[in-house]
Amino acid sequence: MATNGSNGGQTSRFLIWGGDGWVAGHLKTLLEGQGKKVFTTTVRMENRETVIAELDRVNPTHVLNAAGCTGRPNVDWCEDNKEATMRSNVVGALNLTDCCFVRGIHCTVFATGCIYQYDDAHPLDGPGFLETDPANFAGSFYSMTKAHVEEIMKHYENCLILRLRMPVSDDLHPRNFVTKISKYDRVVDIPNSNTILTDLLPASILLAEHGDVGVYNFTNPGAISHNEVLALFRDIVRPSFTWKNFSLQEQAKVIKAGRSNCKLDTSKLTTKLREFGYEVPEIHDAYRLCFERMKASGIK
Ligand SMILES: NC(=O)c1ccc[n+]([C@@H]2O[C@H](COP(=O)([O-])OP(=O)(O)OC[C@H]3O[C@@H](n4cnc5c(N)ncnc54)[C@H](OP(=O)(O)O)[C@@H]3O)[C@@H](O)[C@H]2O)c1
Repeated sequence: MATNGSNGGQTSRFLIWGGDGWVAGHLKTLLEGQGKKVFTTTVRMENRETVIAELDRVNPTHVLNAAGCTGRPNVDWCEDNKEATMRSNVVGALNLTDCCFVRGIHCTVFATGCIYQYDDAHPLDGPGFLETDPANFAGSFYSMTKAHVEEIMKHYENCLILRLRMPVSDDLHPRNFVTKISKYDRVVDIPNSNTILTDLLPASILLAEHGDVGVYNFTNPGAISHNEVLALFRDIVRPSFTWKNFSLQEQAKVIKAGRSNCKLDTSKLTTKLREFGYEVPEIHDAYRLCFERMKASGIK
């Protein structure tokens, strides 16, 4: 039996998959802060019997799937480990959504918007990719698995797919996009859509609790270039910070998999969230606020 996720007054019980991951940790903290019932699991998504047993044990109203094979130290790993990448990102992700469907549980998938690259129809200064645009970036195996699975998974009527891009936390955790680019020897300078977690994760809970389904570009509105991000970081957090740029061609020589650069259209998301009275700040404003929170917490 499928569910629409809005559980008619029943108290929500959230089960976060990929419980030891970075985004999962932020979700847990957020839900606990909201006083919600929250559980985490590290059960492998591809193991159908153990997934079903875990769902029956915890009996959640909502699963938040923050599990995925992201590669260590980065997505280049996925180029050399294709079966393992498919097992998690395709077989596992689809299996978990299907098990939730069978048990009538709403499933929110923390997916990626790194399935696009700028093209003639979507130039740097254009409106951005819509949820309905077909993926056009196959430069990395990681992105390819995510794009293919989304194409199928979006047909599950219990499934909400949220496309994050280059997520940013209010600290300098190694997985924060700002931490990554601040440590590179050289960075490219291209406008991109980014997800400030403090702004977007509460929106994911709102959408899940309202039983929303389908695909959403899940970033702050607008696009911001690497240099704009790093200049704000320098101006607000670390006055001594400097960096060097290089071109996409030079970058290609030091990475194995390609990296997606794109702007996503967030009209669908912001229109829906307005129904709940929730506003997501434009990306330049959002970064300023994020760096001010960082500075206020003593990070230098
Ligand atoms: N961080 C980003 O830049 C970014 C950007 C866009 C989208 N996303 C997506 O958001 C999700 C969460 O990302 P994250 O940054 O929090 O990643 P993360 O820190 O690498 O966490 C992912 C977690 O998923 C677990 N996992 C992997 N395969 C699994 C499987 N088959 N079954 C159960 N658990 C499994 C991992 O456990 P093991 O280590 O034990 O395998 C890890 O604890 C991922 O799907 C990722 O693709 C991330």
